[in-house]
Amino acid sequence: MSQLLDPIESVPSYERRRHILDLDDFYRGETEQILNTTDAMKEVMGRDIRKIPTLRGKTIITLFYEPSTRTRVSFEEAGKILSADVINIGLSGSSAAKGESLVNTALTLQAAGADVIVVRHPDAGAPYLIARQLEHASVINAGDGSHAHPTQALLDLYTIRSAFGRIQGLRVVITGDILHSRVARSNLWGLTAMGAQVVVCGPPTLIPMEMSIPHSGSAGPLGHPMSSVTVETSLEKAMYGADVVMVLRLQEERFLSGLIPSLREYSRLYQLDEERLAMAKPNVLVMHPGPMNEGIEISSAVAHGVQSVIQNQVTNGVALRMALLYMLTVSNQDR
Ligand code: CP
Repeated sequence: MSQLLDPIESVPSYERRRHILDLDDFYRGETEQILNTTDAMKEVMGRDIRKIPTLRGKTIITLFYEPSTRTRVSFEEAGKILSADVINIGLSGSSAAKGESLVNTALTLQAAGADVIVVRHPDAGAPYLIARQLEHASVINAGDGSHAHPTQALLDLYTIRSAFGRIQGLRVVITGDILHSRVARSNLWGLTAMGAQVVVCGPPTLIPMEMSIPHSGSAGPLGHPMSSVTVETSLEKAMYGADVVMVLRLQEERFLSGLIPSLREYSRLYQLDEERLAMAKPNVLVMHPGPMNEGIEISSAVAHGVQSVIQNQVTNGVALRMALLYMLTVSNQDR
């Protein structure tokens, strides 16, 4: 079906979306609508007084069962700029520490007045579980296990579009631990739906086996994203002609679990340094979702060099999350 429909004309009506769980069912038009709303929010962030009353009377609860700096802080800041009441709950501060189930915690937060629950959880599928149980509140997935991190992918799309004015046709290299990366998975859905040529790169042990098998069909909604993705195990080859390189964090556990021989060997072959960066196009963008291991997957010179938009990603994350909070609450109500 997706091959026959124009992706912009065939946007399912946005007002029916109550939750943001992943990008696997996002059409291009809906994503563009979010990115356009983010532009408007970015303008608000540039004002002298960064406060508008749009979400006054709304309650946003962040429920984080895993550590986070960027995502949690940006949701809190986004809610506060829009004048929402924001309440932050961590694992140790909730009754989950006393054995309460995730669903009962979510139902309790809804009963207490939450309009949006932003959840990060180590188990894949946790946000889906609570979204199915809630009658009124919206759920935003802020990262579930190795499965998905849709708001990170959307802010990455926004950062790319801001730099190039488009995403269609760009060569985007995602390099690192693809196997365990929720950021990579959500970006694959988002980037391919927006028409990017995606190359995933890493040691064979850190690339999911199914990605190495050719797929048929179209990319994006209702199609398999891997149909338009290339797999490359040489970072030098991957970098050739790249418009964007997205570096992923290499977790020490991968070395300890035997998936890579040593961190030193990994860095020798896969660290994005100035020499490898020079193989890409001259105006290549360097991205990293954070937190970074400087000196492992990326050199300090590249992480803080002129091509790096890593700090822009963080700023854009606030505007993007403002857009999502607005669209799930006020904007939906108005239709
Ligand atoms: N990118 C990201 O999810 O970072 P945090 O873990 O700091 O939220």
